[in-house]
Amino acid sequence: MVICKENGWIISTKNTSYVIGLLVGKPVCFYYGKRLPDDSDIAVLFREVTHAMGTSTTYLPDESKMLTLDVLPLEVSTLGKGDYRTPSVELEFADGHITDFVFESAEVRQAENHPCLPTPRGVSEELVLNLKAEGSSLELHYIVYEETDVIGKYAVLKAEGDLVVRRFASSSLSLPNHSYELVSTYGSWANEGNRAIMALKPGRFAFGSDNGASSNRHNPCFAIREANKGHFGGNAYGFNLVYSGNHEEAAELDTFGNITVQTGISPNGLHRHLKEGDSFASPIAVLTYSDSGLDGVSKHFQSFVRESVVPMSFAHKARPVVYNNWEATMFDFTKAKIESLMKKASDIGAELFVLDDGWFGARDSDKAGLGDWTVNKKKIPGGLESLAKHAKKLGMRFGIWMEPEMVNEDSDLYRAHPDWIIRDARLAPSKSRHEWVLNLTKPEVADFVYEAVAGVLKSAEISYVKWDMNRPFSDIADPNGQSSFIYDYYVSFYKVLGRIVADFPEVLFENCASGGNRFDLGMLSFFAQSWMSDCTDSFQRILIQSGLSLGYPLSVMSNHVAAKVSNQLLRETTLDDKFDVAAFGILGYELDLNDMSPLDEEILKKQIAFYKEHRETFQFGSFTELESFDGGEDASWQAKGENEVFVAQFKRVASIAPRPGRLIARELEEETMYHFAVREQSVPLTKFGHLINMVSPIHLNPEGHLITTLNRRRDMKSEHDEGVVAGSVLLSVGAPLSPEWLGVGYDDHTRLMGDFGARLYHIAPAKEK
Ligand code: DGJ
Repeated sequence: MVICKENGWIISTKNTSYVIGLLVGKPVCFYYGKRLPDDSDIAVLFREVTHAMGTSTTYLPDESKMLTLDVLPLEVSTLGKGDYRTPSVELEFADGHITDFVFESAEVRQAENHPCLPTPRGVSEELVLNLKAEGSSLELHYIVYEETDVIGKYAVLKAEGDLVVRRFASSSLSLPNHSYELVSTYGSWANEGNRAIMALKPGRFAFGSDNGASSNRHNPCFAIREANKGHFGGNAYGFNLVYSGNHEEAAELDTFGNITVQTGISPNGLHRHLKEGDSFASPIAVLTYSDSGLDGVSKHFQSFVRESVVPMSFAHKARPVVYNNWEATMFDFTKAKIESLMKKASDIGAELFVLDDGWFGARDSDKAGLGDWTVNKKKIPGGLESLAKHAKKLGMRFGIWMEPEMVNEDSDLYRAHPDWIIRDARLAPSKSRHEWVLNLTKPEVADFVYEAVAGVLKSAEISYVKWDMNRPFSDIADPNGQSSFIYDYYVSFYKVLGRIVADFPEVLFENCASGGNRFDLGMLSFFAQSWMSDCTDSFQRILIQSGLSLGYPLSVMSNHVAAKVSNQLLRETTLDDKFDVAAFGILGYELDLNDMSPLDEEILKKQIAFYKEHRETFQFGSFTELESFDGGEDASWQAKGENEVFVAQFKRVASIAPRPGRLIARELEEETMYHFAVREQSVPLTKFGHLINMVSPIHLNPEGHLITTLNRRRDMKSEHDEGVVAGSVLLSVGAPLSPEWLGVGYDDHTRLMGDFGARLYHIAPAKEK
């Protein structure tokens, strides 16, 4: 809701208010925090500095007010009139004149869609402020997502003559500093979502991506929060961008106690030339406020993404349990091998079989075939249709992998259209994973991508596509600069995606970019879920999923149980430890099922049956990071559904003096009695090494044939932890759990978690006797 006040506006969501006032013709943030009563006086929320300190530059020429822009929480910062922050908008004119935007008019209206980039749905209304400077005008849009406490901000610049855009942030928010610290993520391939917490010092700290994608280096979602208030307390503000290209985020702490947070497209390589009548619209930034710290920010963003970002048809639709052949076979498969995996996948209860890379053209390695989207009939006689039919016969749906934006040099597509790739004609184009990027800003290339995907989808009963993108962009030569080219790329790319999802509404698309190299709200506007990382090691995934839970819900996170020994780290964890992590989101499997022992098959069957029973909670529940590895060797997650809660506990390295285990949860009713129970896990006999002889009637060589054979059929069971306690116990000190293994004895109340171990607890109101 937007309430117009004298000289300002209150933009309110269910629990927050953002107040903009006008001072010397400049929109200024008077307040952003807890919701205000609609009839609030806004003048009281802000005290202007009427006598600027020495050496300040006063804005008004007559000096009737000794006021400087430098300390005002401006909604737009520009160079030239005494505001010495890094500008949020920077324009260049041939005659070098200054850009000084001044308020002209305002409008509150039914929200309209962004002119060319995705707009999350469910906006109630918008406030548009029209500003004017010499040579251009600027619209500031504030769009309101009342129910999820999110406010969207973007700007539209209109040129009244030739100009060049050098900086164009989607949002600039200035607030009085309250010992805020910056919380962001950083990473690389297979190493996404690492959380960085940084105390802000005077100066500007900026991060982002210039690699053509939102990137695994720095996800555009970040927050500032009050220091020393923990994960669940204090004022916190969250930010994200509905965009998949180059971006920059920055927090600037000035000497006057103000912090300015900016987010938008990257200014590096932004030289966008506009002519009279041209306009340029920044992507939508989304902001939220909570007085419950990062947890509150995460809760707001989780609901926002679920309700407003992912395609409506999938927002609440149960997602299938997937089997994907990638880590099992890579490129080395035959139709017979795929069919045998299909049979095993259906036996364990998978609902959708995904044929990953390698099914088309001359694609026997990543060096050839990309771009040639016709099935390799030598590898798959009968084509995709026959595999889709086979999957159907086994009771599963069928899906495929594609990477439609890229091309290999060794492909018919490149041989036919060498001019379709992004390159500087003066230089040899650089490859990454042996591929080049198709130039989707050319209409014929965008059409080709649409037709290629549509053709494949029409060729067989395909109900899922993993849309991959495996390289950072390079070799962009554009008079408007890289950042501007990337913007045009995404305008065109999103159009292609819009056409595809409209024409194939039943198909579930999974976003992928070598894992999480393009995991953002732009992609999620078209694709309902995303492959989070190429790292399938379950322990590493705890860090990745925790970091990204700041901005994204369980329903978009696709996670697979992989082989016991991790491809990426050679770390060994049990299948059940892996499940405890992968279950938080969209569960899948990608290990060689032909190598499974009968016991392993039983374990996987049980996992899938259990997951299906509680799918709604794992996929659409509300996620809470109860404890993080930042504080020590233990971490804990919670997923809260309608009538049940799951708590997972994770251990990094086992300790000889472990702290007593306790089951602690949040968001329960103090007075309700809850039944809790650990999900029984399988503990391999081989875990005990030579100690197995302490219970075995005959001596066993721990590496001998007998024990390895036995290990394929028999296991030990995890501890038995179950009970009924009041919510107040779980909410405070926690219910006691079995003590850890300490090397001196074992019974059914000994917790055998060990290094990188995990446990999953189910909590639900106890049934009355
Ligand atoms: C990168 C993806 O993230 C992997 O899961 C797999 O699909 C490969 N590409 C296939 O080339």
